[in-house]
Amino acid sequence: MASATENKDKASLARPIGVFDSGLGGLTVFSEIQKALPCENLIYFGDTARVPYGAKSPKIVERYTMEIVNFLEACDVKMIVIACNTSTAIAYKKVKKRIKIPVIGVIDPACAIASEMSETGRIGIIGTKITVQSGAYPERLKAVNPAIKAFQKDCPLFVPLVEEGFTEGEIIDLVAKKYLREFDDKDIDTLILGCTHYPLISDIIARVSGPGVKIINSAEQTAMAVKETLGARGLLNKSKKEGKRRFYLTDASVNFIRIGEKFLKRKMQNIKVVKVWDILLQ
Ligand code: DGL
Repeated sequence: MASATENKDKASLARPIGVFDSGLGGLTVFSEIQKALPCENLIYFGDTARVPYGAKSPKIVERYTMEIVNFLEACDVKMIVIACNTSTAIAYKKVKKRIKIPVIGVIDPACAIASEMSETGRIGIIGTKITVQSGAYPERLKAVNPAIKAFQKDCPLFVPLVEEGFTEGEIIDLVAKKYLREFDDKDIDTLILGCTHYPLISDIIARVSGPGVKIINSAEQTAMAVKETLGARGLLNKSKKEGKRRFYLTDASVNFIRIGEKFLKRKMQNIKVVKVWDILLQ
């Protein structure tokens, strides 16, 4: 029979991983974590009432991020994954300072692999307006390798187009060509998809960028980082059963389930709506 300490350890390891995003885009990260760690219990928080974050002020994004972090801590999560590039760019350092459990954002994992994959050190980054303005990606790339030359372009139309289902066809093609023209004279060999929604149009981005450009999907890299961090700290769930998934939204968005099921390639259950005024910071 298992001792009381063993049972307590088991229960502690079974605590969920909290993953959050401004809306549904972070499901690209959630889905990769689900693939990499099928036995982990997962909570997804989508701030569907206040999305998009990408064109808001850094101050407000930081505030929203801290509110969600508090909510997830109250759910007794064992780790927090900031699946939103914009929140990571603005508030990752603050979150890391504030909480005791491990926290992973999407920027460091993407920068580490981009630096490894790039042969010329000329790396492009695409993201929302405030991710680009924050300079977080170039800063982190330089921290990995000071010789890297980073080039950025904000692509604000990609998020609404993906949310409206324009993930293929002439419109998204034209928009991609217009945005990616920025890199024509930069001679990049690697491009980071610095936004949750972009993995869903990675084929188009890859085609428009051309065969000489490697595309870095931060969702995949983040899931690997989650697995490594939990493993290194002895925090992996010991259970062999498929983990439970719970979804919290701040608004019952119609798009969430429709697009969410496409992202996750499965039915979504256990969805609860949290009132924004219940999570506000005082
Ligand atoms: N989740 C955001 C990101 O990765 C994109 C959507 C938004 O602007 O809120 O930057």
